[in-house]
Amino acid sequence: MLHKHEKIWLTLSSVMIIGFMLFTGYQTFALGMGPPSHTETIDPQKVDEIEPFDEPGVYETGDNKYEVVMTLEAFMFTPSDIEIPAGSEVTFIMTSKDVTHGFQIAGTNVNAMVMPGYIQTITQTFNEPGEYLVLCNEYCGAGHQMMSTTITVN
Ligand code: CUA
Repeated sequence: MLHKHEKIWLTLSSVMIIGFMLFTGYQTFALGMGPPSHTETIDPQKVDEIEPFDEPGVYETGDNKYEVVMTLEAFMFTPSDIEIPAGSEVTFIMTSKDVTHGFQIAGTNVNAMVMPGYIQTITQTFNEPGEYLVLCNEYCGAGHQMMSTTITVN
């Protein structure tokens, strides 16, 4: 009898372990929650020479669609003071030239970490006109508190 129970428990725990492994695998590959293994990488020393970061700026890519190619460094966002029309869908393509910075847009759900060596992409639609404050929310040095810019939606 005892033997039978042990077997049941062994089988159950094996099933659970396999289940967790499958679940983790699913999260990693299907939901992209895993380590940044398939994230695009970049040499942080050469950001200025590598496309598209050799020309940071705001680019219109379609109807109400924009791409903002942005570099982050202590203690600034390039380009700064972005202006876009209301209703725009904006994809931010970002990387850091030095340390890890944050990219948070007040009044939205946008809150991302921008690490040297990696390209961070995030898309946000701006329907409400106004001035959106962009903050660095990762401590990055003496000027961290001053690292901010604005996105103006007209
Ligand atoms: Cu950049 Cu804090």
